[in-house]
Amino acid sequence: MLLHIPQVLDADELAQARALLADAEWVDGRRTAGPQAATVKHNQQLPPGCAAAQALQALVLAALDRHPLLFSAALPKRVLPPMFNRYGGEANHYGDHVDQAIRHIPGGPQAGQRVRTDLSCTLFLADPAEYDGGELVISDLTLGSLDSPRIKLPAGDAVLYPGTSVHRVEPVTRGQRLASFFWIESLVRSDEQRRLLFEMDLALMKLRQRDGESAEAVSLTGIYHNLLRLWADT
Ligand code: NI
Repeated sequence: MLLHIPQVLDADELAQARALLADAEWVDGRRTAGPQAATVKHNQQLPPGCAAAQALQALVLAALDRHPLLFSAALPKRVLPPMFNRYGGEANHYGDHVDQAIRHIPGGPQAGQRVRTDLSCTLFLADPAEYDGGELVISDLTLGSLDSPRIKLPAGDAVLYPGTSVHRVEPVTRGQRLASFFWIESLVRSDEQRRLLFEMDLALMKLRQRDGESAEAVSLTGIYHNLLRLWADT
């Protein structure tokens, strides 16, 4: 499932994030890449433990926590602390790669804990008008001659995509692309099951908006939770 989540950050949060990023020190992004990815990765990142990264992580995690669409789509069990990257100048692209399946939480009270990367999320922090190129291309969602999705969203918006995918970031030829990226281990490991639950949850919300509470809505809500009980791994 590929999902656009609008307005994860509001204008104030975006301004705060941009101010923190403007003063931050950046390092070579290959520090956090696995062996295959490191050969094609050409960007910069904030060192995960630096003060700016910590302030930004708190801001992004608080925004994620209050976003019902993201919660319903991802059913998060664990979230890796968000990281922050910059593409531009010499360090302007990231070739085709697959993210590592298991990552370790680098610091804090859960340091060393393993997280299975069921879902990847990119939160855009620069407006599309600020840079050319820099599309996130998910290259294995389509087959044959169909075009792959090319994702470039307004600042503050996020895209959620399967952690299993082959993807890349196209070269940034003008300006700077700033983003946060992170992984989520879901309570429901299967993308297919998670999608069914998400679609059912959306349909239930619309049903309640249209008809208010009804015996059918209660029954379907029960089925939703019982499917979640069958499929969730807590
Ligand atoms: Ni990646």
